[in-house]
Amino acid sequence: MAQPLRIGVAGLGTVGAALVAQIARERERIAARCEREIAVVAVSARSRRKDRGIDLGRARWYDDPVALARDEAVDVFVELMGGAGNPAKAAVEAALAAGKSVVTANKALLAAHGIRLALLAEKSGAALNFEAAVAAAIPIVKTLREGLAGNRVTRLYGIFNGTCNYILTRMEQERLPFADCLKEAQRLGYAEADPSFDIEGHDAAQKLSILAALAFGTKVDAGAVYVEGISSIQPADLTAADELGYRVKLLGVALRTPKGIEQRVHPTMVRKDSAIAQVMGVTNAVTVDAEGLAPLTLVGPGAGGLATASAVLSDIVDIARGLRVAPFGRPAGRLAAVRKAPMQRHEGGYYIRLLARDRPGTAAAIARRLAEQRISIESIVQRHPGGEPVGERAEGAVPVILITYATTEDAVRKALAAVGRDRVISGQPQVIRIEKN
Ligand code: HSE
Repeated sequence: MAQPLRIGVAGLGTVGAALVAQIARERERIAARCEREIAVVAVSARSRRKDRGIDLGRARWYDDPVALARDEAVDVFVELMGGAGNPAKAAVEAALAAGKSVVTANKALLAAHGIRLALLAEKSGAALNFEAAVAAAIPIVKTLREGLAGNRVTRLYGIFNGTCNYILTRMEQERLPFADCLKEAQRLGYAEADPSFDIEGHDAAQKLSILAALAFGTKVDAGAVYVEGISSIQPADLTAADELGYRVKLLGVALRTPKGIEQRVHPTMVRKDSAIAQVMGVTNAVTVDAEGLAPLTLVGPGAGGLATASAVLSDIVDIARGLRVAPFGRPAGRLAAVRKAPMQRHEGGYYIRLLARDRPGTAAAIARRLAEQRISIESIVQRHPGGEPVGERAEGAVPVILITYATTEDAVRKALAAVGRDRVISGQPQVIRIEKN
């Protein structure tokens, strides 16, 4: 048997502690698979005294993760601190500069500096593995980089944020308002203390940008992702979606179009009978469309200590086995800059919910503005506030729900601006894009 692979772990939070425990528990099985043991020889964390319920044995303690990254008796630096800046960035750079392989679960770091770090790794022949950075236990990084290495990916879409999927599931199943479900997610420890990163879509956008680079051979460009969160979704939208045969999910979508690469994160209507629509609660899922293949969908736990540690450990095992693949599936210097498809030219169907003034001519005025933009209506339903389809009249404003055939973002925005100027609606229209699946 070869010498043990010596790892240094920076960050002993939920994931770090779960990793140390899993390495101890799986010691023999891992050694049998790699013909080499994995040994935790050094660690670093904020508090030395905290009881984490794990046995750190004789692992050396470092207060400074950068010093740990430089430890000559460490073969692989495992970064589980998080954050795009220091100390995570400085420590990963120090490890790669010293020729050590790095395993990280840090999506923010990769979204901001992934290509530069990949170049550093390739220069020294080190590995930079990050399966855990996207959708935790779901092996989507390896699926794109290795499993589909011979395929041309045309689109990928998925549920990349468990907090949002939990909130939408509760809103749909229990008919609860957004704010109540968010509180529940916080109480259960799913959402961050400041949950805006989750619910405004930024967490999903970082993950999507990493997957898009792997799928399309482009540079990671989180700034090119169009982002909308779920805070404007109301139970009325979920009820209407249900009746129309859809569910609402916060999807991240990346696809090739003739105008360039489209990357977007927003609430999305998906057909209720699709694989992605069945994914409830904190679970994540991703579907990949590749030429010549039926859609491939992976579903599983996308967050939490055990799920994330499982992906981190598989990356460490790859290194122990001597597997090296360019971090983004091809030499980082050959990744192309993203040619960003403008969101205004996005094409697809739309769900539109308006509060229309209940008086003669309103429906005609709305239909005219849509027709001016060549938007064709697939269905239109008017409801009185009690929820029954109208026929009957109601005082004041009534919700009108429209589903359009495929059109463009630009046409929808122009039509709704004109409807607003006509003063036939109150408040802001709700717009949800429909994804074909
Ligand atoms: N906050 C993330 C989520 C966890 O809710 O999915 C890991 O990225």
